[in-house]
Amino acid sequence: MSNYHIKHLEEYYQVYRKSVRNPEVFWEEIAEEHFMWRKKWDEVLSWDFSKPDIKWFQGAELNITENCIDRHLYTRGDKTAIIFEPNDPSEAAEHISYKQLHQRVCKFANVLKEKGIEKGDRVCIYLPMIPELAIATLACARIGAIHSVVFAGFSSSALATRINDSECKMVITSDGSYRGSKTIDLKGIVDEALEGCPSIKNVLVVKRIHLEIEMKAGRDFWLQPLLENAAEQCEPEIMKAEDPLFILYTSGSTGKPKGMVHTTAGYMVYTAYTFKNVFQYREKDVYWCTADIGWITGHSYIVYGPLCNGATTVLFEGVPSYPNFGRFWEIVEKHKVNQFYTAPTAIRALAKEGVEHLEKHDLSSLKVLGTVGEPINEEAWHWYDDNVGKKKSPIVDTWWQTETGGIMITPIAFATPTKPTYATLPFIGIQPALMDEHGEEIKGNQVDGRLCVKFPWPSMARTIWGDHQRYKDTYFSAYEGKYFTGDGALRDEVGYYRITGRVDDVIIVSGHNLGTAPIEDAINEHPAVAESAIVGFPHDVKGNALYGYVTLKETGESRNHDNLRKEINQLITEQIGPIAKLNKIQFTNGLPKTRSGKIMRRILRKIASNDTSNLGDTSTLLNPEIVQEIMDNVL
Ligand code: PRX
Repeated sequence: MSNYHIKHLEEYYQVYRKSVRNPEVFWEEIAEEHFMWRKKWDEVLSWDFSKPDIKWFQGAELNITENCIDRHLYTRGDKTAIIFEPNDPSEAAEHISYKQLHQRVCKFANVLKEKGIEKGDRVCIYLPMIPELAIATLACARIGAIHSVVFAGFSSSALATRINDSECKMVITSDGSYRGSKTIDLKGIVDEALEGCPSIKNVLVVKRIHLEIEMKAGRDFWLQPLLENAAEQCEPEIMKAEDPLFILYTSGSTGKPKGMVHTTAGYMVYTAYTFKNVFQYREKDVYWCTADIGWITGHSYIVYGPLCNGATTVLFEGVPSYPNFGRFWEIVEKHKVNQFYTAPTAIRALAKEGVEHLEKHDLSSLKVLGTVGEPINEEAWHWYDDNVGKKKSPIVDTWWQTETGGIMITPIAFATPTKPTYATLPFIGIQPALMDEHGEEIKGNQVDGRLCVKFPWPSMARTIWGDHQRYKDTYFSAYEGKYFTGDGALRDEVGYYRITGRVDDVIIVSGHNLGTAPIEDAINEHPAVAESAIVGFPHDVKGNALYGYVTLKETGESRNHDNLRKEINQLITEQIGPIAKLNKIQFTNGLPKTRSGKIMRRILRKIASNDTSNLGDTSTLLNPEIVQEIMDNVL
């Protein structure tokens, strides 16, 4: 078990040095010892960031579900793989053992096959957080179909864009979903989306909320009866190391979402290895990540990473506030959760409610706390440490991205001394670099710059579906020979990293990545709107909220501004989803622009954040007078 479970800081440094001095030897050892291969690789790594072309474990053959399920059957067959905690606390939790998971995944995989899904086909999964979501992803992986999970909070139009981009053949959905006290008509959203999705042949529908829904003959099928008739064994499809495992969409600087493509072997090795180490997962532990499987955190650290390690992973359908703000703590107590992984926005929302909810529950099972998705502010960090961890549980502040597939900069629980708001040290094998504005690497400590990575790691995305050029332009063109993250960071006197936030047009709201361009595109569709610009401003709970500056085609008071604001937010909800709604909308007579016509977001950001003491250089503006007008009318 060499190097597989790092226990103290000295060991971290030793293993880290080994991993960067000789990455091929290092990763080969990890891959050999801890995974099940149908055929070993011919070459551990080949790479060229200028193309970019990255291949790990070429020549190897495997199936990731054999690693996540089959190989545990003899040693852990009756161990719980997934604990499903429903939205309604009075509904019984479900414990799915590895044996049962095997059977359910095989049956589901056989249903997919029967409906004509073959290796390489894309299958869109649009489901709430119920066991079928994990099972459907694994069933796709079992037969070599590429899953594209779309977060079930996205609108029909966002769903359609994603289905069409990768030409999915099937959608797996449910009759509806529970979310706190509400129900959502998921199938209705799918039906609307499918009006413009010619590639879809079938829809499989899970019955969850027993809603009367329309089923289109020949296209839509209830899942349950198909499962009942399906065989219990399904031979795994033998996949090549670099065969795509899934596509997951993330926002970018244009309106079109980027379908990040993750491949099989490297992704498996890295997510499993990080999971085990970062959280220091031990055989009898119960691990809970509160993310949704619709995001990368759920893919890597609810499904693949934990299951590859034979872990028990909690899957929670509901929200932290239902039926009250004690729900998370009730679940921790009920299932004796040992590792708890959540987002700063959830911590801030819970902290706002005070500690009385916490005090009602026994949290003594907790050993490790994690956070992910956005920078955690000092106050939230301490609240989490004091009240949830009782100063005994290390907080692993894990920095990573959809594109990176796995955790990149993080403390290793119990090994790395933590520091509030710092993601601390690069994980084993990760070689970060901070870059200055001239494209030079900044060496030494107590510096800040733009965060890049100099060397490939096994779980990095390999391309953008259907647009390799965009992959190259977005990530490998800003700094030659390096992967550019889009984040800014600083390195302190001992080499700890603190992520300071995005330096591009992505805004993180409640931990969700939102590109400004798709939101602006949605607003600009309003017939009264001439143009718009979105920026982020600080928000107590969400981290950032959205501020929109909107110029109308006809100025003057002829339109009711409150109605317009509602209509604009309605458009955004329809095009993207409610998560992208604007908190504030200011109508302006123009937007500050450079002579080349580029909107000066930097200035707009400062005004929205009430930070106008130093607006920086405005001399390059085409229309400097607009700045004062915008400041005078700021909301
Ligand atoms: O800006 C960083 C922020 O989230 C971005 C990635 O978002 P996404 O692809 O949705 O993946 C989120 C879950 C892995 C990053 O570029 N981010 C993520 N984790 C942290 C963070 N910022 C600061 N600290 C973190 N721990």
